[in-house]
Amino acid sequence: MNITIKDTHKYGNGVFATKDIRKGSLILRFTGLVVNITEAAFLINNALWIEDSFLQVGHNQWFVLNRLANTFNHSCSPNAGMKNRADLFALRNIKKGEEIVYDYSMVTPPTEWEMVCKCGSENCRQIASDIRSIPKDVLKEYIKMGNINKITKTVIKDVMNGKAKIPKYLQEGLKLFKEKK
Ligand SMILES: C[S@@+](CC[C@H](N)C(=O)[O-])C[C@H]1O[C@@H](n2cnc3c(N)ncnc32)[C@H](O)[C@@H]1O
Ligand SMILES: [Zn+2]
Repeated sequence: MNITIKDTHKYGNGVFATKDIRKGSLILRFTGLVVNITEAAFLINNALWIEDSFLQVGHNQWFVLNRLANTFNHSCSPNAGMKNRADLFALRNIKKGEEIVYDYSMVTPPTEWEMVCKCGSENCRQIASDIRSIPKDVLKEYIKMGNINKITKTVIKDVMNGKAKIPKYLQEGLKLFKEKK
């Protein structure tokens, strides 16, 4: 393993490189139990799992991320990206000791989610939200670098032409979370 979990002293724990990692190499293949939106709501509403620990991997399919996968933080200037179903790979050479971060928005098709971002990068978007919040030029750059996974490929055309919306099944599913509040 060339990664380890450490305190970031900024936003909780994060994942750091324990060796130099070359551009293009696979860092971690995320896996997890696959749940649908109803099951995800059940887990959260009953405090069986924590919010912000699900990664969409298909139509009405989310991974319940394990601890390691769920410890990577977000950056608006990431050094890692996601391809295939959920393969985290190095977007550039990463030095030993660097925190490994990816852009959560690039793996978040239209939904209701926002996070105040403390990544501190020059082009920080301040509020990270779903893929519609990524500027078009950044999206184009990500695609060029291969930073696009399977689920994001299914929505990218609509995102590019400004037509992407939260799908009906997800709008319905999100009500299950709201009912709790
Ligand atoms: C998947 S967890 C990442 C690991 C987390 N830092 C921990 O200690 O377990 C996602 C949470 O980390 C924090 N986080 C990740 N990236 C962040 C960022 N760029 N700015 C602020 N908080 C961030 C937020 O609290 C977010 O809900
Ligand atoms: Zn940021």
